[in-house]
Amino acid sequence: IDELVEDGVAGRRVFVRADLNVPLDGETITDDGRIRAAVPTITRLAEAGARVVVGSHLGRPAGAPDPRFSLAPVAQRLGQLLGREVAFAADTVGDSAKATVASLGDGGVTLLENLRFQGGETSKDDAERGAFADRLAELADLYVGDGFGAVHRRHASVYDLPARLPHAAGGLIATEVNVLKKLTADVSRPYAVVLGGAKVSDKLLVIDHLLERADRILIGGGMAYTFLKAQGHEVGSSLLQEDQVPAVQEYLERAKDRGVEFVLPVDVVGASEFPDLKAKAPAHPATVDADAIPADLMGLDIGPRTQELYASKLADAETVFWNGPMGVFEHPDYAEGTRAVAQGLLDSSAFTVVGGGDSAAAVRLLGFDENAFGHISTGGGASLEYLEGKTLPGLAALED
Ligand code: 3PG
Repeated sequence: IDELVEDGVAGRRVFVRADLNVPLDGETITDDGRIRAAVPTITRLAEAGARVVVGSHLGRPAGAPDPRFSLAPVAQRLGQLLGREVAFAADTVGDSAKATVASLGDGGVTLLENLRFQGGETSKDDAERGAFADRLAELADLYVGDGFGAVHRRHASVYDLPARLPHAAGGLIATEVNVLKKLTADVSRPYAVVLGGAKVSDKLLVIDHLLERADRILIGGGMAYTFLKAQGHEVGSSLLQEDQVPAVQEYLERAKDRGVEFVLPVDVVGASEFPDLKAKAPAHPATVDADAIPADLMGLDIGPRTQELYASKLADAETVFWNGPMGVFEHPDYAEGTRAVAQGLLDSSAFTVVGGGDSAAAVRLLGFDENAFGHISTGGGASLEYLEGKTLPGLAALED
């Protein structure tokens, strides 16, 4: 983006592909981290006199307008954070978008409606995606890719549009890539990784990569129960991906061979049913040993002994990567495991990277100062796929 700005962007229409995919409760934004992360690049362009056309997705609508996924509340928050007016276009490439872009003055900013309201955005068909990218290209003269959270998606605005316009990477993408690069090169050891979240199937490839690099891998969240099952324990009514048990068993074996330590929960906190997250009523949780989970108990967080164990495994680490909450942190009765890991990261002197999505939101929702962490990525899936060593379409498109 430095070169682009130096070349002069005043009066030019610059399409900024941001990732403003924030969690919403109705029309209320519950975590605006991604919007805040988008501000510096937009500000920089606007201050240089560009006419900034911001595009993003929100959620996973079915390729047609759906008010539940409107970016209207995001436009309002973006305006507050930028300290400048954000004109919201009620469509993506239709009359509203064209008129809003045409009426932008130098330094003006518009946010288009959710790009996924058009099927062409996410289509697997190159021609369909290309046709949508052609229409987006009519709205701009230059392209800046800055939506790190979406660079793993081969979508029209991420992958096809930059091929149609002179393009550059924004500051957020540059920062994210520089940090994650450090985790793929020579890391300072011990290198500890904390993986949580619901599904082990989402993490298999990254575990594969980490078995070659990490010294210890701490497992929590819903995926921990598939690991416990793979070790021969019963997991009651906890989340279980039975079909993944053989793959996990193989990973546990490989880890042993390679001297990588897998650390699994020794106790868990749970209840007979999933808590009501809205009411936040006390859930009457029980703490049980991880090798003695009763048949009617659903594990919903790591227990206190596990929290201590994990803190001790993080204490002497030199590098830590954390992706995925340890439990249902949205409910106060099941937030302690995630809180303990966040605190463990802060208490260690390691270089710490929090990988995106839910874990980043958890850190903020639990009241931690996000600036105290080495880096909080805006990309969940994107940061994992980067670490897996995959070619990410949204980065490849910006490279030439
Ligand atoms: C994310 O939340 O990880 C990104 O915004 C990408 O969203 P997606 O998984 O719906 O493509």
